[in-house]
Amino acid sequence: MDAILDDIRVLDLTHVWFGPWCTMMLADLGAEVIRIEPPWGAIDRIAEGALFGGASYTFHHLNLNKKDLTLNLKDPQGIEIFKELVKKADVVVQNFSPGTMERLGLGYDVLRELNPGIIYAALSGFGQTGPYSSRRSFAMIAEAMSSHTRLTGERADEEGPPIEMAQAYGDLGPGTMAAMAIIGAIRYRDKTGVGQMIDVAQFDCMVAYNTAITGYTLSGLLPVELRKKFPRGRGVGGLLKTKDGGWIRLAAFGPRAMDRIQQYMGVELDDITKEMIEERTLEMTRDEAVEFYVKKGLPCAPVYHVDEAVADPHLAARGMFIELEHPKAGTVKVPNFPVKLSETPGVVKTAAPLLGQNSKEILTGILGYSDERVEELRKAGVTSFSS
Ligand SMILES: CC(C)(COP(=O)(O)OP(=O)(O)OC[C@H]1O[C@@H](n2cnc3c(N)ncnc32)[C@H](O)[C@@H]1OP(=O)(O)O)[C@@H](O)C(=O)NCCC(=O)NCCS
Repeated sequence: MDAILDDIRVLDLTHVWFGPWCTMMLADLGAEVIRIEPPWGAIDRIAEGALFGGASYTFHHLNLNKKDLTLNLKDPQGIEIFKELVKKADVVVQNFSPGTMERLGLGYDVLRELNPGIIYAALSGFGQTGPYSSRRSFAMIAEAMSSHTRLTGERADEEGPPIEMAQAYGDLGPGTMAAMAIIGAIRYRDKTGVGQMIDVAQFDCMVAYNTAITGYTLSGLLPVELRKKFPRGRGVGGLLKTKDGGWIRLAAFGPRAMDRIQQYMGVELDDITKEMIEERTLEMTRDEAVEFYVKKGLPCAPVYHVDEAVADPHLAARGMFIELEHPKAGTVKVPNFPVKLSETPGVVKTAAPLLGQNSKEILTGILGYSDERVEELRKAGVTSFSS
């Protein structure tokens, strides 16, 4: 069965989470994604404490289905090789700090000259223009400035300190937006032959995700003030403790949910308090409470640790985990592509690559270099192979 992007080649100059997540989405939809790392390894391969077969667990998570070519882009030969690859590619994705590609002589203007159909996605913290564009960034920088960190803190304690999101949603969300824009640009390129530049900023995307912003522009009130002035009457829930020390998340919002709550509590809606729900929940174990509320037709979940999520039978039934063989880390169990497409399913075939795992095959196969030339490039430190 064909995959959506199985005729698309992506040159992946990304690192850390934001860019690698974007290109992995493209790889899972069938694109040939060639991750290009310096011969000494990208920062995300070895940045985090524990290494599994020479790579961090985040590298294993975020680089499935990719090939790996090492190229020293500080060497003129490395630049030439990259330019030759651009002529044979559809998409370039990079998430260096703005200005880096231009300093390498690989800005969009240069790449467009080489290949007018090239789709060039520049991912960054603040975008390629604007007063902050030169700033470096990680997810938490955009989360902080788009006020998510403040909002998370206020939910825990109105007067308390800001609290960061547990995962880097300031990478994963914008990375997904970038993949969406690239697929749209491929559609446009296929119709017109013309590529384009895509400028994705974490800050812009995180602002776009923040509904509290429109709450503010409409009311002039900050979220805490808005909640106080207009308390949400038609819902109960939250994180609730159970008698075995567990937690559940009940999310009973909307009139139908409230009717169901009213029926089982046997009291008038206005008399139902959060304390009543808390007490009722404390009489049950976690699993009993989940079953109880789910049977009442209410959205309810156990609050899992990671190990419980991995062992969940529903996820197993949905094929959400797969096991892949990695040459050095052994069997790696990872999440599958999460969205099901009936005609062109996403497919995860290979574990994260070793550093330089595919250098030779790319240089000989795509560029037609001889084995001797590849060996010279290796000796000159322009490329390297995995051992
Ligand atoms: C993540 C980030 C903070 C890291 O900062 P950094 O480690 O200083 O890296 P930069 O992107 O500024 O620069 C990368 C350097 O590696 C070099 N480099 C990258 N690939 C290379 C290669 N294959 N060969 C040789 N050099 C290479 C670049 O030329 C650049 O060198 P320079 O500083 O001399 O110009 C920064 O890349 C950034 O802000 N990115 C945009 C936002 C983002 O994606 N953040 C990560 C979210 S997970």
